[in-house]
Amino acid sequence: MKTLEINGTTGRSQILVGERLHNLKKYIPSEKLIIITDTNVAKLYKKDFPKSNCIEIATGEKNKNLKTIRSIYEQLVNYEADRSAFIVGIGGGIVCDIAGFAASTFMRGLRFGFVSTTLLSQVDASVGGKNGVNFHGYKNMIGTFNQPEFVICDMTLLNTLPNREILCGFGEIAKHAFIGSNDMCEYIEDNSQKALSLDKEVISCLVYDSIVIKSNIVNMDEKEQGERKKLNFGHTFGHAIEKTTSELLHGEAISVGMVVAAKLSLIKGMLADRDVKRIVAILKSLKLPTTLTTDRERMVDAIKKDKKREGNDIDYILLDGIGNAVIQKISIHELENVIFDL
Ligand code: GLY
Repeated sequence: MKTLEINGTTGRSQILVGERLHNLKKYIPSEKLIIITDTNVAKLYKKDFPKSNCIEIATGEKNKNLKTIRSIYEQLVNYEADRSAFIVGIGGGIVCDIAGFAASTFMRGLRFGFVSTTLLSQVDASVGGKNGVNFHGYKNMIGTFNQPEFVICDMTLLNTLPNREILCGFGEIAKHAFIGSNDMCEYIEDNSQKALSLDKEVISCLVYDSIVIKSNIVNMDEKEQGERKKLNFGHTFGHAIEKTTSELLHGEAISVGMVVAAKLSLIKGMLADRDVKRIVAILKSLKLPTTLTTDRERMVDAIKKDKKREGNDIDYILLDGIGNAVIQKISIHELENVIFDL
């Protein structure tokens, strides 16, 4: 097992890469444990949960809303949760975002930690202290920054994940490599086949390296005033895809978004053509999509409605060379040109 640390304003978070669900008990300081999970994870792993009250939520992004939070509050009241209660979210990104938000707000905040069960949440959602739910069609509009006390990344839980979910995790892993480390890009180039066959050593290395990059950024800028925006590489466009089609999952949508961002970086003279080709090749080697199949007009419309937009400009994450992300204002017009050129 390898350990990383995030030192947030709300506390210290330990990320335990390679720790196991069955060791969860070691990290729970309180008697009053309440587990929040989803019906899918409960079916597969409830037998391995420590003795606790358990709240099960339905699966899917459509349930990441205030209605689910309200139902969790009601169950916490029924379980007589008080300030001494400890919440553990066991699941993927949706469960962790919801459990973290419920824990952060119930009785002005309970202690909490996560067991992250998907590759996507191990490398992104469960790490870094962003918690929240969607609201009025906007992703993560209501939420808090609040660090979990621990995040257990148990690699053995990935064995039951559908292949497409694994590929989504690769999308965020590739993102970390593109924004933070040329060495990590080379590692992916050398090991993509092993990664696709879930080689334990390769996956552990990719998860660990991703979290190193993410935790360094979060330690510099927990509340996303600047540096942390770099983690949104590929996301402006990726979110627009997610809004306009249900064909692509998050990791797949950001894969296409990263190609758009790479092409914009090329237009801006910051990335060479061979770098764009390399980015596309890495994504393809991880079986991720790199071209847009959806309606361009609707895409531009969704970007215009992006909550992060300021006037005609958008804070866009570009690459000034592979491994070096920069934040630049891009006009909607420039973005439109790239989209219609894809
Ligand atoms: N997923 C981006 C971030 O945690 O800031």
